[in-house]
Amino acid sequence: MAGDKNFVLKGNICYSEDAKNLKLVEAGWLVCREGLCAGVFETLPEEYASYPVTDCGDQIITPGLVDLHVHAPQYAFRGLGMDLELLDWLNTNTFPEESKYRDLEYAKRAYGIFADSMRSSATTRACIFATIHNQATELLMDLMEETGLKTMIGKVNMDRNSPEYLCEESAEQSAADTVKWLEDTADQYENVRPILTPRFIPSCTDELMRKLKEVQKKYDLPVQSHLSENQGEIAWVQELCPESRFYGDAYDQFGLFGGDVKTIMAHCVSSTEEEIELMRERGVYVAHCPESNTNLSSGVAPVRTYLDKGVNVGLGSDVAGGSKESIFYAMAHAVQVSKLRWRLQDTSLKPLTVEEAFYLGTMGGGSFFGKVGSFMEGYEFDALILDDSDIRHPQPLSLKERLERFIYLSDERHIKGKIVAGNRIF
Ligand code: GUN
Ligand code: FE
Repeated sequence: MAGDKNFVLKGNICYSEDAKNLKLVEAGWLVCREGLCAGVFETLPEEYASYPVTDCGDQIITPGLVDLHVHAPQYAFRGLGMDLELLDWLNTNTFPEESKYRDLEYAKRAYGIFADSMRSSATTRACIFATIHNQATELLMDLMEETGLKTMIGKVNMDRNSPEYLCEESAEQSAADTVKWLEDTADQYENVRPILTPRFIPSCTDELMRKLKEVQKKYDLPVQSHLSENQGEIAWVQELCPESRFYGDAYDQFGLFGGDVKTIMAHCVSSTEEEIELMRERGVYVAHCPESNTNLSSGVAPVRTYLDKGVNVGLGSDVAGGSKESIFYAMAHAVQVSKLRWRLQDTSLKPLTVEEAFYLGTMGGGSFFGKVGSFMEGYEFDALILDDSDIRHPQPLSLKERLERFIYLSDERHIKGKIVAGNRIF
């Protein structure tokens, strides 16, 4: 299959057509034509008879998963220090760890581990925060390029309210370093794209935000940041930006909130009605990070509302707020926390179904990358080959049941094949 983007996979195929409709085709034929999905068929059409076929037997084939929000430098302390809320967690655990990426030797070791884990995970596309450090960010881009995953990676901007060891000197310096990073990495990669990454409003001065808007326009960049994650954070933003009507408005004032600017906002746990309406209007993507929101006691985002209102939403692992990079795990978490929200907070918002969680982790986030996250015709061919044969059960299960169980019970050892845009990763 290597180097050739015309081929067929045969197996038990599962993919979303939209948030409600999960398609299941047993012993089906999935055709890749020039790196794009040509369709899923019950019998192989004559026109593809010459394509090489990989028979996946009884294995499950799904689209690759999409992580809309992950912090590469935080991978090193995943699973540690979960007893704090956001702002204390940042100061106590996160900022000291991120400052280590000034040291390229450390960055090489830590980012090497991150890149290896991402490669063997179910993730085929990801939007990644690096740190403020240019050189380490470039190193991360080099390492991610080699994995074959399609990623967007951002050098982080922070010029205020940050410890001296992790604070850029000035807005000018931060913007100038960003431009240098963009120039140094331009046209270097096939799989990696830059994404503008102001950390969040509390760590970026107005002057920096204005400068970043200029950079965004000049280089036509997408943007990623954090929004309405935690009550203390939201109150702080209101103090810092007294003119803003709500947190998202503080980004919008600088032209960094959707519209022409492809934008991901992580969390949106406590977004107001006005904020949600602006996100919908502007096509802002919500990166829903259920495990992180649990670990940092942030709360539960109203994903049902986002789906009902037509706000773009996908899943994020948010390592190291989240402990694991697995987006299957994030799907299970999304269902679980939606049940707690329904039971404890708002009985009018029904919990998510497995179909909806699967959609969020594939098509929901995938659309940020274009036609990604489904096997409908014309989608980029990102696929996983999954072996659940050792997740034993005394009776035969339906394909839908096998997929549901896989979401809850699998780990990366069950992922036997991964294809990104028609290229076989393993
Ligand atoms: N808000 C600002 N920075 C961060 C971060 O690193 N993680 C999370 N979860 N929220 C943030
Ligand atoms: Fe985050």
